[in-house]
Amino acid sequence: MTLCKALLAQLLGLIIAIGLNPLLPLQLSGLVALLALQSSCSMLSSVLLRQPHWWLVIHLLFLPSALALHSQELSVFWYLLITLVLLLVFGGTVKGDPPLFLSSTAVVDSVSQLITQESALHFAELGAGIGTITVPLAKDHPHLNINAWERAPLPWAINVWRSRHYANSTCYRCNLWSCDFNQYDVIFAFLSPAVLPELGTKLGLAMRPGSLLVSSSFAIPHWKPETIKQVNDLAKTQLFCYRIT
Ligand SMILES: C[S@@+](CC[C@H](N)C(=O)[O-])C[C@H]1O[C@@H](n2cnc3c(N)ncnc32)[C@H](O)[C@@H]1O
Repeated sequence: MTLCKALLAQLLGLIIAIGLNPLLPLQLSGLVALLALQSSCSMLSSVLLRQPHWWLVIHLLFLPSALALHSQELSVFWYLLITLVLLLVFGGTVKGDPPLFLSSTAVVDSVSQLITQESALHFAELGAGIGTITVPLAKDHPHLNINAWERAPLPWAINVWRSRHYANSTCYRCNLWSCDFNQYDVIFAFLSPAVLPELGTKLGLAMRPGSLLVSSSFAIPHWKPETIKQVNDLAKTQLFCYRIT
């Protein structure tokens, strides 16, 4: 369904752009203008089709990147390689999973402080990506037992490789929804707001009373945070910390 909506948005963008192109002033005609129009119309169609917001970036870049690559006359091998890498990193996004965005070093430092404050012994990250958070935590907190849950194959493999020297960190290539949330003192998640209502319902029931849930960047609807940690990074990230009662 997600992929159908994405294709439809691209197609609508193209049809509208071709339709509107002759109406543009002469100075604005040409391929660049057509591409700009197609990208904008695809983004608009994506909004109307209620696709998650990260699809806007994909729609913005899709056709211009495809044409740029095509103009390079690359061998078929490169297309195959690029497609394979994209599938291994973003395959789940097509099914509706949040895509890979990395947390900043300042977020890692804040999470590390929370681990110390909480005297946590068991930590899980839901959607651990390439280990941006779990690798430094494993290094700085040798007594912390870390479980990194990640579904996308390539980020998971990179995390496994980066964690190879840390016996206290285990990377599971698994759907985060099958995680046993009850065994952790702190759970960290940097996921799309689209999945947070369902995640909140599930975690509220499954996490141990007294444990801490940290949601990066997005609040869980209808939950009252115990604290909101303001991180001093470029994105001005906020960490929403919820105490499970
Ligand atoms: C926004 S990224 C965060 C990456 C990393 N946690 C960080 O903070 O740098 C979200 C990650 O969650 C993963 N993900 C999304 N849905 C998932 C699911 N259902 N099960 C496991 N991982 C998932 C994505 O593949 C992606 O790597």
